[in-house]
Amino acid sequence: MRPFILVIFGGTGDLTKRKLIPAVYRLLCIRGQLPTLHVIAVGRRNLTDDVFRADMREAMRTESGIEMNDVQWSCLSARLGYETLDFVSDADGYRRLESRIRMIEAVSGESVSDRLYYLAVAPEQFTVIVQHLADNGMTARMEAGSGIRRVLVEKPFGTSLEDAAKLNRHLLSLLDESDIFRIDHYLGKEMLQDILAVRFGNAVFEPLWNHRHIEYIRILSHETLGVEGRGGYFDHAGILKDMVQNHLLQMLALIAMEPPLQLDPESIRDEKVKVLRALRPFTPESAGPDAIRGQYGAGTVRHSKGTSVLMPAYRSEERVSPESDTETYVCLKTWVDNLRWGGVPFYLEAGKRMSRKTTQIIIQFKPLSGRQPYPEFGQAGANRLVFEIQPREGFHFIVNGKRPDADWAMDEVSMEYCQSCRADNNSPEAYERILLEAWRNNASLFARWDELYHSWIFIDSIRACWQLEKPVFPNYPAGTDGPPDGFLQPPD
Ligand code: BG6
Repeated sequence: MRPFILVIFGGTGDLTKRKLIPAVYRLLCIRGQLPTLHVIAVGRRNLTDDVFRADMREAMRTESGIEMNDVQWSCLSARLGYETLDFVSDADGYRRLESRIRMIEAVSGESVSDRLYYLAVAPEQFTVIVQHLADNGMTARMEAGSGIRRVLVEKPFGTSLEDAAKLNRHLLSLLDESDIFRIDHYLGKEMLQDILAVRFGNAVFEPLWNHRHIEYIRILSHETLGVEGRGGYFDHAGILKDMVQNHLLQMLALIAMEPPLQLDPESIRDEKVKVLRALRPFTPESAGPDAIRGQYGAGTVRHSKGTSVLMPAYRSEERVSPESDTETYVCLKTWVDNLRWGGVPFYLEAGKRMSRKTTQIIIQFKPLSGRQPYPEFGQAGANRLVFEIQPREGFHFIVNGKRPDADWAMDEVSMEYCQSCRADNNSPEAYERILLEAWRNNASLFARWDELYHSWIFIDSIRACWQLEKPVFPNYPAGTDGPPDGFLQPPD
C-alpha cells in the first residue's frame, strides 16, 4: 500500500512531544486508522533515530501519561525516524530528506507516497521551508503525478493583517490553495463539530437562533496554565492574537453562521467567512469600555489534585520583559452586524492563570417577562444552552420545572448530555483529527485565507485602539477569574 509520510519540521519541539507523537500513536497503534503512516521528525539537533525514539517514549510517559507495553512501543517506534536538518541554510539536507522518503517508498514496494509536511516551527521559517521543498521538487506543483503533497501550517498565521497577507502571498506563489492547510486545532475538537450537529440536526433550536430569542452569547476559554516556557513568543503575541484571533473567532463563526448549503468544507467555510466579515471593528470609543485587557500578577493557583501553588507574576516569567504590557486576559463585547444577530452582544473572553480550566459557549435566551401571562411564573429564569468544549465534553440546556409540592414555584433544571462521562467515550484528541482529516482532505477543519483575512481586520482594530493607552498592569492575581470590579463581566 502507498506509504503515508508525515514530515514534522520542528521535530524536537514541544508540540511534537506533547501532541503530535501521541496523536500518531493513537491513530496508528490504537485506532489503526492510518496503517501506512511513517513519521520523519526534522530538527536542528543532531540526534540518531534511536535517541529520538527514546526521547519520545519518555515524553509520552511523563507529559501525556501514556505507558506503552512492548508490543505498542514496537508498533510506534518502527514508524518513527529523525533527520537532522537546519531548515534555513541546509539545502543539501532537503535532498537527504527526499532520499529518506524514497527509501520508505522503495521498502513499501511503491513508487510514490502521500505526504503531509507539518510546519511546527517559528512562523518566520514557514516560507523558507516551503521554498526549499519547492526547489527540491518535493511539493505537488513541482512533481506532476505525485501523491498527496499537503503543507500544514501551525498558528500563528501572521502577526497582523499585513504580515499574514504577505505570508499567504508567499505560500500561494509556491503551493496551490488546496494544498495549504492552516491549522486551528480547536476545529479538531469534538464539541466544535457538535455545534453544527446540535444547531442543524434539531428542529427546536434553529427557529430560536436569532436576535428575537437570544439575549447574548458568551464564549470563554479559561486556562490555569501560564505561558509554560513560551514567554519569548507569547510576550510578542498576547492572548488576543494567541487565542482570540483564531480559536475564539472560529467558535463564534460556527455559532453565528447561517446554515451551509451542504456540510462540505467550502460550503461551511463560505458561511463562516460571512460572520467574520460582519464583525464590527472596534473604535477608540468602543474599545475603552468593551475591549478589556488584563495581565496576571503573582497569586495562588489551585490544582485539580487539591494542592495550591504560588505562581509568579507574568512579568517574572522566563523570557518575558519585566515591564511587559502584554495582555494575558481579554474580554470583548462585540457585535455581528447582520439581520440574524442585530443587537445581540457576543462576549469573548480568554485568560491565562485563571482559577480553573474551562472552555464553554453559553447561549442565553431571552426571558419570558413581558410575554408572560402567568404572574405565578414571574420568577422563572431564562433558558440557556451551554456547549461544554473542555475539559468536560457535552452540552446542557437549562429549562424551568415546577418545584414538587410547592404550588407554582419554579426551579431551574438542567437537561444534560455529558459525552466525556460515557463509559464508551472515545473522542479523538484534536490533533488526531487534524492529522486524519488533512490526510482525508477534509478542509473544513482548517482555516481558509479569507477567514483569516477578516479575523485579522477585527483583531488589528483592537490592537490599534490599545496602542493609544498604556494599561495599568498587573490587574488580576494568578488563580482568579480575571480583573475585578469595573471590568466588563457578562451576567452569568
Ligand atoms: C494554543 C495557544 O493555540 O492553544 C496556547 O497557543 C493555549 O497558549 C492553547 O494554551 C490552548 O489549547 P487547549 O486545547 O489546551 O485549549
